Amino acid sequence: AVERTLSIIKPDAVAKNVIGEIYSRFEHAGLKIIAARMQHLSRERAEAFYAVHSERPFFKDLVSFMISGPVMVQVLEGENAIALHRDIMGATDPKKADPGTIRADFADSIDENAVHGSDSPDTAAQEINFFFGPDEVCPRTR
Ligand code: CMP
Repeated sequence: AVERTLSIIKPDAVAKNVIGEIYSRFEHAGLKIIAARMQHLSRERAEAFYAVHSERPFFKDLVSFMISGPVMVQVLEGENAIALHRDIMGATDPKKADPGTIRADFADSIDENAVHGSDSPDTAAQEINFFFGPDEVCPRTR
């Protein structure tokens, strides 16, 4: 089925100047960018986005990292987009990520792992709504 997923290019990858290279991978995989915004998250917004992890030991470091610089946030649309996006990102820990995946090529550690992607249809819907209003999502008509 055609799905939508939320993608974040994290501060480490923005700092490495590889937004375009990562966008190319989305496009070559057949994923369409149907919404996008660069922003520097506030601590409150980053904590809210990662609220599901608030009790995890890595939460404080995760939030500090995510507000350390701007992020690029986008909605990707395509057939099987959620799993396809996760495949091309690679494993959360770049040491375990398959060769040729975004994290294998651009991430340095599990904490600074270049990209985020929604993990299920429910979280995708929730995460898209967290960042974008209905009038900011632009499905292709041609
Ligand atoms: P992300 O998909 O953005 O979701 C939460 C992030 O927490 C994850 O990517 C990692 O960058 C980070 N993280 C740090 N340590 C861990 C861990 N042990 N397990 C899962 N995520 C972790």
